[in-house]
Amino acid sequence: MNILFLGDLVGRSGRDAAAAALPTLRAALAIDLAIVNAENASHGFGLAPDMADALFAAGADVITLGNHAWDRREILPYIAQQPRLIRPINFPPGTPGAGFAVVTVPDGRRALVLNAMGRLFMDPLDCPFRATAELLTRHKLGSSVAAIVADFHAEATSEKMAYGHSFDSQMSLIVGTHTHSPSAVHQILPNGTTYQSDAGMCGDYDSVIGMTKVPAAARFWRKMPGERLAPADGEATVCGTFVQTDDATGLALRIEPVRQGGRLSQTLPVV
Ligand SMILES: [Fe+2]
Ligand SMILES: [Fe+2]
Repeated sequence: MNILFLGDLVGRSGRDAAAAALPTLRAALAIDLAIVNAENASHGFGLAPDMADALFAAGADVITLGNHAWDRREILPYIAQQPRLIRPINFPPGTPGAGFAVVTVPDGRRALVLNAMGRLFMDPLDCPFRATAELLTRHKLGSSVAAIVADFHAEATSEKMAYGHSFDSQMSLIVGTHTHSPSAVHQILPNGTTYQSDAGMCGDYDSVIGMTKVPAAARFWRKMPGERLAPADGEATVCGTFVQTDDATGLALRIEPVRQGGRLSQTLPVV
């Protein structure tokens, strides 16, 4: 199965670039399953229902969230009705929406996508490791599903690597989000799971993690409230990860970064 994961879409720049790139990347990379993190799609904070609809229409199969999941409150009734929009699985019991989705790709193969959130330098939540382990008792790679992908939304690389190694052999891809900066540790772990600490954002990289740089920098210079943060609106780099899996095992054959448009050095796998 060919899988594309795009990191946090930030504001209009990131949203529009990802929506424009999805059909092209799906065709160029023969993508079977496309996943995007959209927690920052709405002006940097949250996701509105019409934006989620537009991303599904552009070719996203599953949309994931993170700590900004509920910044746009209109998404609460929407997520309760849309099983392909998922939020971190370790939110408290009773939270609207689900932490995972099982989707069927056009040729009938099934994939499990889950979203979990780290706790180091983040809001306290239930344990993401235990919540993931519990889910994986019910879905087995290579038998009930052909692929399993986790978006681990976390700040600390240590927690992300610990999570990656903990589930090495049980998933096809474990990819981090939230830092908005692509990491270059993408690799196939020893037991066959692909891993990248952070996919990077889809957004304008002439910014401070997607927000206009002057007010963002002022917050560090002057420890007092200042101008409201707004997303940078220059050309976005669409950042993500491409993975090819072996259907017999669900494990990885290949992982490569994707960086298209904007300021970052460009890379696109050849399929
Ligand atoms: Fe984010
Ligand atoms: Fe985040």
